[in-house]
Amino acid sequence: MCSFKAVVFLVMSVILQMTACSSNFPPEFKFGAATSSYQIEGAWDEDGKGENIWDSFVHRQPWRIDGNASGDITTDSYHRWKEDVKIASEMGLHFYRFSISWTRLFPTGFTNEINEAGVKYYSDLIDHLLEAGIEPVVTLYHWDLPVKMQDLGGWANPLIADWFADYSRKVFELYADRVKTWLTINEPSIMCDIGYTTGLLAPGIIEDQFAPYICTKNILLAHAKAYRIFDKEFRQISGGRISIPNQSLWFEPLTPDDEDVAEMAMELATGRFCHPIFSKEGGWPPKLESLMWKISLKEGHTRSRLPTFTEEEKNLIRGTADFFGLNYYTSRTIRQAKPGEKVGPWFLEGSPELNAIMDVPADGYYSASPIFYIYPEGLRKLLSWIKRSYGDWEIVITENGYPTTGLEINDYNRIAALQEHLEQIQRSIMEDGVNVTAYTVWSLLDNFEWSSGFSQRFGLYQVDINDPELKRSPRLSSKYYTCVIKYNTLDVPCNCFNQSESAARATRQSLPNLPKPNVVESVSFFKEVYENRRCIVKVMRLFAKMMKLVGSN
Ligand code: BGC
Repeated sequence: MCSFKAVVFLVMSVILQMTACSSNFPPEFKFGAATSSYQIEGAWDEDGKGENIWDSFVHRQPWRIDGNASGDITTDSYHRWKEDVKIASEMGLHFYRFSISWTRLFPTGFTNEINEAGVKYYSDLIDHLLEAGIEPVVTLYHWDLPVKMQDLGGWANPLIADWFADYSRKVFELYADRVKTWLTINEPSIMCDIGYTTGLLAPGIIEDQFAPYICTKNILLAHAKAYRIFDKEFRQISGGRISIPNQSLWFEPLTPDDEDVAEMAMELATGRFCHPIFSKEGGWPPKLESLMWKISLKEGHTRSRLPTFTEEEKNLIRGTADFFGLNYYTSRTIRQAKPGEKVGPWFLEGSPELNAIMDVPADGYYSASPIFYIYPEGLRKLLSWIKRSYGDWEIVITENGYPTTGLEINDYNRIAALQEHLEQIQRSIMEDGVNVTAYTVWSLLDNFEWSSGFSQRFGLYQVDINDPELKRSPRLSSKYYTCVIKYNTLDVPCNCFNQSESAARATRQSLPNLPKPNVVESVSFFKEVYENRRCIVKVMRLFAKMMKLVGSN
């Protein structure tokens, strides 16, 4: 009997071991890639499209974008979308995530006037994807707000929740018969926090006291209204599911004494956007809510800078997701500031609210961007934090990617980054029991990288922006990803891509003398420029120099 038990035990452990070490993904795991309308479409004023805040930002203040670049033409996917579908199909993508340009469908943003050319554009794209066996995953909003709505206050005006709801209903009416996976508003934390604290994104407004919090509340309400409409009016007729793609960082406590501040930073950066939707009780994370009251009263305000929810609003927002959408790129270490120490801006350098200082993990990797320091372990830790905080949600990685600087085709560093993030996802599924069901590479092809213009590239496919034909060419990473998808494993056969070289990257540990890869200098200088434009040339040069310095390492 005893030996029978021993045999059973042995067999069980071998099976467990094999499962834990297997580099296969669950058979139903899905792989895709993403883009967004302003970043790839071009045709900014063609066929009746209205103006959005990125159109006006790049035209009125071209100096705010690296190389004075714009999305006027970018990869011209408005005309070349068939090539993009072909690329997606050749890679064997299970799904393609793209976003709808609000003003291409509704030129002013308001739904009383519709642009038929825009309706046809997205309809054709969806049909071709379906014909190619690729699931269209549609984001309703990826940062390109109608100018008219910005003139009325944009995401700081509470009426935007209804405007967004009206827009969403119309888009569902148009495409919900064919689109089964919807995402509402891309990365509220980047829009509200990075947007308003740095002014680096359109509309370029800097107001870091109230705007980030008002924006957060209005986005949550807008998302919730769109979800409720979908749930009530479309789900039964056409099926499908809907969520919101949140961007999150992992904050690693620098020492055991910094655990509390790290947890608070998680609540400020992620909990603020997720707790109202994904927690059982809804509303703001309780500790964050009371901290913000305390800070606000101390500052002499009579109410919290984090606007309160009514019970009705809490209930409207709670539970409005069918899965958890997660965009992950980078992590930071965090520690409490010493008395008198200067705290950088939220949320890549520090937290004035938490009096905390951030840095990058010593064993992560530099990339071409000072923002995107690569720390794949952070993804696994973040996934576990989400499960601990909100329970067993299905998690879809809606974005993850790696920036390079130039036109390099042999992107071994990107392959390494993809492979390491996917490995962390596997471990998360198999060892931590987190229900991750899909992974999305940012991006299908090189595109307009916001204030970095075309100086940073994320594409599995390279796009030669200087070629009038905007030639698309496969990078080595696209071949690697094709094999990952085809064989459903990280152990891809040797002939998938030329493996004669491998990644060459530096960590903070290996280059301790390199300046801390932060955006604080560029951002605070940028702020000065915004207020005092005389030093603009000096600042832009400094910014370019910093980007190059980090990129070349
Ligand atoms: C955004 C993309 C962006 C990417 C790389 C994500 O946060 O959703 O639009 O291009 O990061 O910066």
